[in-house]
Amino acid sequence: MSLKILSKMLIAAACGAILTSGAVRADTIEEKAAVCSGCHGEKGVPVNAVTPIIWGQMEGYLYLELRDFKKGARKNEIMSGIASSLERDDMLALAAYFAAKPWPNLNQPSASDAVTKQAATANGSIGCTGCHLDKYQGTGSVPRLAGQNHDYLAKTLADFRSGERGNNPGMSSLASATSESDLAALETYLAGM
Ligand code: HEC
Ligand code: HEC
Repeated sequence: MSLKILSKMLIAAACGAILTSGAVRADTIEEKAAVCSGCHGEKGVPVNAVTPIIWGQMEGYLYLELRDFKKGARKNEIMSGIASSLERDDMLALAAYFAAKPWPNLNQPSASDAVTKQAATANGSIGCTGCHLDKYQGTGSVPRLAGQNHDYLAKTLADFRSGERGNNPGMSSLASATSESDLAALETYLAGM
């Protein structure tokens, strides 16, 4: 990575008179984003079930997660290492880059009527959509959940419950206050939206 950056800088210095600074910046972001695509997917479809969709996710949320991984407020073997090499400007640029991409369709099965009803009842008492918005589309620093990778949703809600994901105490309390059965229904429902 650092070698690539160095060669970029050398090329930029050599071609400085020709290249506009905007072109150099855009180039750099494409290159950084290519690293992410190794797991989050070339077309936004993650390479495995426990990797989240980041294409089309809320810009503010993407930035906050990268910042939290770097600060250590959210821990993950892979992402903590990756985020530690990013500066604030990179994170802001990557968040804007991925937020502007279209959300991919993972074609996960729609929930059955019974599961849909259970998810709606759980939402009725907890009010998930009060923050995640109608149809779970997300807003600002509140993430979109509709159509997210099922196994990732299950993993991260379990992490909120156990405190393994400790960057949002509010979500941890809510996940702990919800029965495992209701959470499972919500996960199936959300993935199939
Ligand atoms: C080697 C695989 C891998 C690479 C490369 C990778 N990620 Fe991740 N990323 C993951 C996994 C796995 C998670 C889920 C972590 C967890 O369970 O908490 C994740 C989580 C995230 C999240 C949190 C999403 C959410 O819904 O909470 C963001 C944002 C993110 N990655 C951005 C990036 C960016 C930007 C890059 C490139 C600079 C990148 N990732 C590179 C595997 C990877
Ligand atoms: C008071 C507002 C609020 C309510 C109510 C709420 N959430 Fe959240 N939720 C958030 C915020 C804010 C985040 C982002 C936390 C962070 O910065 O990491 C989040 C994150 C999540 C995530 C992680 C998404 C990802 O990509 O990693 C899941 C899953 C989730 N919420 C599910 C739910 C469910 C299910 C309910 C209802 C049982 C619910 N939330 C209720 C505010 C809320």
